[in-house]
Amino acid sequence: MCGIVGYTGGRQAAPIILDGLAKLEYRGYDSAGIAVKNNGGEMQIVKAKGRLKVLCELTSDGENLGGVCGIGHTRWATHGEPSENNAHPHCNDEKTVVAVHNGIIENYAPLKAKLMRRGYTFYSDTDTEVATKLVDYYYKKYNEPLRAISEFALHARGSYALAVMFSDYDGEIFAIRKDSPMVIGYTDGGAYLASDVPAILKYTRKIYYIDNYEIARLNANGVTFYNLDRDEIQKQSTLIDWNAEAAEKGGWEHFMIKEIHEQPDVIKNTVNYFLQDGKLNLSELKLTDKQLSEIDSIIITGCGSAYHVGIVAQYVIEDLARIPVRVEIASEFRYRKHVLTGRELVIVISQSGETADSLAALRDMKERGIKTVAVVNVVGSSIAREADGVLYTKAGPEISVATTKAYSAQLIAMYLIALKFASLRKTLTEAYYDSLINELVSLPDKISRVLENKSEVQKFASEMVDKKDVFFIGRGIDYAICVESSLKLKEISYIHSEAYAAGELKHGTISLIENGTLVMGILTQSELIEKTVSNLKETESRGAYVAVLATEGNDNLPADFRKLSSLPKVDEHFSASIAVIVMQLFAYFLSVLRGNDVDKPRNLAKSVTVE
Ligand code: AGP
Repeated sequence: MCGIVGYTGGRQAAPIILDGLAKLEYRGYDSAGIAVKNNGGEMQIVKAKGRLKVLCELTSDGENLGGVCGIGHTRWATHGEPSENNAHPHCNDEKTVVAVHNGIIENYAPLKAKLMRRGYTFYSDTDTEVATKLVDYYYKKYNEPLRAISEFALHARGSYALAVMFSDYDGEIFAIRKDSPMVIGYTDGGAYLASDVPAILKYTRKIYYIDNYEIARLNANGVTFYNLDRDEIQKQSTLIDWNAEAAEKGGWEHFMIKEIHEQPDVIKNTVNYFLQDGKLNLSELKLTDKQLSEIDSIIITGCGSAYHVGIVAQYVIEDLARIPVRVEIASEFRYRKHVLTGRELVIVISQSGETADSLAALRDMKERGIKTVAVVNVVGSSIAREADGVLYTKAGPEISVATTKAYSAQLIAMYLIALKFASLRKTLTEAYYDSLINELVSLPDKISRVLENKSEVQKFASEMVDKKDVFFIGRGIDYAICVESSLKLKEISYIHSEAYAAGELKHGTISLIENGTLVMGILTQSELIEKTVSNLKETESRGAYVAVLATEGNDNLPADFRKLSSLPKVDEHFSASIAVIVMQLFAYFLSVLRGNDVDKPRNLAKSVTVE
């Protein structure tokens, strides 16, 4: 996620801002910038691609940037490649309005067109430059900062934490937020704003959490808050008692549990980005409807959890779009003696966009003239740049090595690809298509409900902490859920686990079942539950301890099966998005109970850039 820091008061602003941005580096970024202004002076803007230290070197840690009022930014690219040009702060042509932004302006394209019709030109590819010039447009129209910012909020759609300086208003910073985080602080004649508490914890522990559509006006005398009607409002401050390290995790104990809880927002952001006014827009695939219609089979490839997304997607795309789909482990796929028709579409899934085996598989397919698209989280990464088209997931930077929110966002992207093909191939009734779109929109709330019941999962994990072997079994999409569940458990709890197609267990592996072996049944696919229950009974008769994860309303399961939290109902094509949350939590709690390094498990790297 982007990081924002602002300061105004009696001290030199730049060193304070750079120090604050350094405290936000954990959020992940690819470029940085700062703007400062001395009373009556010019706006000075310095930006740099790469690490924050490049900006610090350019400004001698801020010492050679005079000015007592300023804003700074570390950018996690969402629109436009990582570059100095795209880095924040952004400004109007006269450099009299300067802004930094964290979030996604979903309707930036029509807003940009509107501004261009009014004579604006643009130097970057970012939605933030559009936001800045929209503020400028209304500032020129109403000649008043609060009105300019409230008009921006009335016309921009999406998420934003926006901090703005106006050259006519010395020593003042104006800020507004919607859905993206922002905190405000004031102490000893200095006013601070930041994306997150760590950036300003050194200066003050008295924090104001600005709410959606609230505007803050900061100056050396204090902070004033307004609503969107520009009426002044009173806000209560919060005293932060976290230490600095806890503050980086927003008060969560680990990044993983923090990222697990970000999933409702991540899914909402990803769905909203591609569903504009209810219409599916996958133009970033860079394939026309005609080209997509000529595709007669899909190959999905990736590694680890990204590969597991492909297993879910195979069932979903085949069932909804009636097109053949196969899923390949990238490290195997790249060495296959392929038999290809040239009418395939290869989809490479990767959070980092730098996984060596996935990149090699992509390059191999491109050399063979096969159309390739990527589903990637890191903007401007190798796989994203080299694929013919790319759908960026809106998960933000994922810090924990074990993926959670990126996995969930990748599922959404694949569901949308399934719907795109279904729409082109006319395999669904309009009513059912619309109902599926609505189901995707409902996912964040349903996932929030699962998260609210996490204590049940924590209790179950505490009872299973000494297990040596865990088997996950299921059929269809339930099997696809098992493979990700098993990997999550293994990679952070270090407990051995296997995922098995429920019908396959009896063909050998059932010999491993002993007294007390934990066998977990995933039961979300109504047509397959009965068969999987039989398979679970087979293991139970050989001593297994059986626990099941089923959708609410499934009351006719064997009484002696341990029931994990029942899952909110959702169209069964999307069950993985709900069930995986429980399994992420199960693995997380077991890892914590076993005293492991949850965010940095042994032997693992976040991105495997070697073969
Ligand atoms: C996920 O929890 C694992 N850490 C790992 O399997 C990961 O999914 C895999 O290495 C692929 O990474 P990528 O998505 O960045 O390509």
